[in-house]
This record gives sequence, structure tokens and C-alpha cells, in this order.
Amino acid sequence: MNPLLSARKVSFGYGAGDVLRDVSIDLHPGEVTILLGPNGSGKSTLIRILSGVLPSRAGEVLLCGRPPRGYPRREMARLLSVVGQDPPVDFPMTVESFVALGRFPHQGFFGETTPEDRERVRQALAETDLYGLRDRTLSTISAGERQRATVARAIAQGARVMLLDEPTAFLDIRHRVAFYEIVTRMKEACGIAALVASHDLSLCAEYGERIILLAEGTVASQGTPVEVLTPGNVQAAYGLAVSCDRNPATGAIRVTPLRGMPAKNR
Ligand SMILES: Nc1ncnc2c1ncn2[C@@H]1O[C@H](COP(=O)(O)OP(=O)(O)OP(=O)(O)O)[C@@H](O)[C@H]1O
Ligand SMILES: [Mg+2]
Repeated sequence: MNPLLSARKVSFGYGAGDVLRDVSIDLHPGEVTILLGPNGSGKSTLIRILSGVLPSRAGEVLLCGRPPRGYPRREMARLLSVVGQDPPVDFPMTVESFVALGRFPHQGFFGETTPEDRERVRQALAETDLYGLRDRTLSTISAGERQRATVARAIAQGARVMLLDEPTAFLDIRHRVAFYEIVTRMKEACGIAALVASHDLSLCAEYGERIILLAEGTVASQGTPVEVLTPGNVQAAYGLAVSCDRNPATGAIRVTPLRGMPAKNR
């Protein structure tokens, strides 16, 4: 099956040095891929390049066979949704209006909404547990609620590929799990391809069938959670001693930092 989004030997730097070097990844329909890596390893930069916000210095990105920067805005938004790392704070609009922005690529020239638009917004609000907050303005809800609103907007958008940059960073454990349940359902029901940047190693092991581990701008390891989440890989990427065993309840890999083992410089 052809990937919906792929990067081939992508390199990039904000200045003279390289922030990403020779990064190649494929996102396939019906697959959730988790992007792990320490602070500053290049996850957000890669997401900006995959979404066409930044141009790669070398290599190429193909979204459904074409460079993302070549798509008209609406067509692009029907194919790809992006949840950035920093949820907007000062948007002077209600949660419901903000989530409804996700429907713009499906609307006509005058922005008229259809019953389907309204139903998709209602569903996205319900799935992210925001229906009761739909009339509040974004500046008067909590950080986690705002983050759920950005995810709800992407759900309402209904794109085939979703790029989500630490979408669970501000969420409590129940809403974190709910997020991964939602993307799992969307990949199964709608065949989306999702890339989720995260720092939550054990939860990723439960939900991500593929993991890409970035370290210092290169792909240090990629594969299944069992292949990627090894003490050696985690030590090399994060400079942290961990044990990796199986969660007895689920069988998924469980990563536990080892107390008393000082973090080493990479
Ligand atoms: N706008 C920018 N200008 C210059 N350097 C930048 C810029 N944004 C990021 N960087 C640098 O590029 C590198 C990668 O940053 P990036 O934000 O992609 O990391 P990340 O893996 O997303 O980290 P985090 O886990 O903290 O979100 C870091 O060294 C960072 O300091
Ligand atoms: Mg980041």
C-alpha cells in the first residue's frame, strides 16, 4: 500500500547547522505512528516540514504523491490536519466556533454550514469531552481543555493524515487514554494515517504499532514498540537508564526509569 505521507532523506537547519539529517519516514493509511525523542531532537521541526510549513533543505516530502507546498489551501486541509505543540490562548472565540474552523475546507465560498458540518462539530466536541464547555471562550478554559479543543478541531476537519505534536502534554491520564482511543478508532473506522509526537513512552507502547525514535535530528530507531523501546535505545537517545519489561495486564512494553542511576550525557 502506498504511503499517504512520506519523507525521503530530509535534512533541515534553522541556521548553518543541521537540525534534521537524512530523515526518512512513511505514514500509511490505517496506521498510528508515534514520534519519540528527547527535547530538541527535532520532532516539531519534522512535523513542520511534513506539513509544508518549513521547506526541507535536502530530500523530499510527498503527500499523496505531491509536495505539500504545492497544494491549494482547501485541498491541503482536506488531506492533512495539524495540531501544533502550543494551543492558542488568545483566540476571542468560543470552543464551538474554534472547533467549527476545522470544517472550512468542506464549506462553500461563503462559508455556509451544512447539517453534516454541525454534526461533525458536535461529535468532535463530544469525543473530546468538551460539549459542556462549547459556549466558553478559549481564554477562559484550562490548558488541558484548550489542548482538547485543538484536537477536536482536527477531528472535525476529517483529514486523511493527522500530524499531532504532543497533543496529550497537558492532559490528565483519563483524557490521555481517551485521546489514544480516539485516534485508534479513527484509524480503524476511517483509515487515517496519524503521526503523534509524544514523551509518554509507556502509553505509546500500548497504542502505537510503529514508533520512530529521533535523536539529535536523525532516526535512531524505528519499528514496533518491542523493537524500539529497549534499554539500550532509550539510554542512547535520552541518556537515561530504564528497565523495559512487559505490562502484566496488557502485554505491552513498559518503560520504567531506574532510580539511583544517574542520567548520563549522551
Ligand atoms: N525557530 C527556531 N529557530 C532556531 N532554532 C530552532 C527553532 N525551533 C527549534 N529550534 C532548534 O531546533 C532543534 C529541534 O527543535 P524542535 O522544536 O524540533 O525539537 P523537539 O524534538 O520538538 O523538542 P520538544 O520535545 O522540546 O518539543 C532544537 O535544537 C531547537 O533549539
Ligand atoms: Mg516539540
